[in-house]
Amino acid sequence: MKNLVLKSLSLGMSGYIWIARRLDYYLNKSVHSLTPPDRSTNPYPAANAIRERAPVIRSYMNGGWIITGYKEVTEILRDQRVTSDFTNNKFVTRIVRYAAEGHKVISFDYPTMLSQDPPDHGRLRKLVAKGFVHKYIQSLAPAIGQLVDELLAQIPNTEQFDIMDTLAKPLPAIVIAEMMGVPVHERHLFEQWSEDLVKGSDIARPEHIKKGGEATGQMRSYLVNLTEQKRKNPGQDLISQLIAAEEDGDKLTIEELYANCILLLVAGHETTTRLIGNCLHLLLTHPEQMAAARSSEALLMGAIEESLRFEPPVQFTARVVKEDFEFRECTLKKGQLLMLSLAAANRDPLVVERPSEFDITREKPIHVSFGYGIHLCLGMSLARLEAKIVFQKLFENFTTLENAQKNLDWGQNPMFRGLEQLHVRTTCAFELSEPLPLAKTAASV
Ligand code: HEM
Repeated sequence: MKNLVLKSLSLGMSGYIWIARRLDYYLNKSVHSLTPPDRSTNPYPAANAIRERAPVIRSYMNGGWIITGYKEVTEILRDQRVTSDFTNNKFVTRIVRYAAEGHKVISFDYPTMLSQDPPDHGRLRKLVAKGFVHKYIQSLAPAIGQLVDELLAQIPNTEQFDIMDTLAKPLPAIVIAEMMGVPVHERHLFEQWSEDLVKGSDIARPEHIKKGGEATGQMRSYLVNLTEQKRKNPGQDLISQLIAAEEDGDKLTIEELYANCILLLVAGHETTTRLIGNCLHLLLTHPEQMAAARSSEALLMGAIEESLRFEPPVQFTARVVKEDFEFRECTLKKGQLLMLSLAAANRDPLVVERPSEFDITREKPIHVSFGYGIHLCLGMSLARLEAKIVFQKLFENFTTLENAQKNLDWGQNPMFRGLEQLHVRTTCAFELSEPLPLAKTAASV
């Protein structure tokens, strides 16, 4: 019976999408959608075409508006008349509730800082931010370097291997797990939950929403136990710090602690994985820029920043209108969904010169790949650091890195952009060393 309901919902969604596409085509004269069928190969022509038509455009497909101009995206992300609490949009909430089949869903049932407006947003962010201060994150470099060494040492054939499977996918989940003080033998759980939680963000696929709900429940139960252990034996890790804040007064409830730990995994794993893969893919396809990035740390950081602009791991984010207001001569109505294309904003010719060119020597690439305004990414220093260390280690260990991936699979979830596999052919600089001893305590990361 459940399967039947899920199937009808899936069919219902496909039907709705088909009708909405037609409406956009006939009423709105918009032949493009942010999620065209061929988007996975190259989403940028469609995103550019929408922005050229107008930076704010009505979209029946998305039940609201698509915003693509850099100035417009940043203005909306600063505007207090919109919210990232999606329970304000009945349509999205209904889909999520049906599809989750009674499972509680992160952000809908368990509010996180990302789904909260001020003042709750600020209260939660301030507490979690203690674990993300720039200086502390930089101090993690040796431990992250050690994790990369361990992962590289586990590759059976270093002449040709898939960088996604061996390095880009496991590393960010392990780093987050260790920051939270998760024991080494349980880190693998974080990888699976993360995959299911991220898939759960694709509202066009109800079966994924259900899986995301299951993963939320499993991770929450795990955190309940872990928190109890940390209460008895506190450490230097993030969870111990948050427990101290919870015990200090009413600044953080225990449910908020669980929800925000789940958010950190959702927000920090897949995104960093995709940054590493996208940046390497761009360097492999621009060998002269790969050589330049090898030659100086500043150019390597330039490559990471430019790849964030050029191939943003998070392609778009969304907001819901809290009250009617006029924006660029359009009336945004309470409850409507605003799809903000970070990918289109990053290529807006009004703010970026030669936007369709990948150039790691840009002075300071302008982009919104980490968001903007109060919800600006909390983990951006960590993401940049992980990417930097991965590339430094790859350059150290391999004198050449070449593309060995025949067909590129950019995945199915339109919100995220990244390669499923990226096989590289390498020449080893020297024999890879034996695996290093595993990091002993969470505090070591
Ligand atoms: C390349 C990697 C990353 C990218 C591209 C990225 C992107 C983003 C974006 C676009 C937002 C804003 C979303 C919105 O306003 O709707 C965001 C917020 C956030 N990110 Fe990241 N992120 C990355 C890595 C990380 C990491 C490593 C962590 C932590 C482990 C993290 C934690 C967060 C948190 C907690 C928020 C919510 C902040 C708030 O609501 O105040 N992110 N990220």
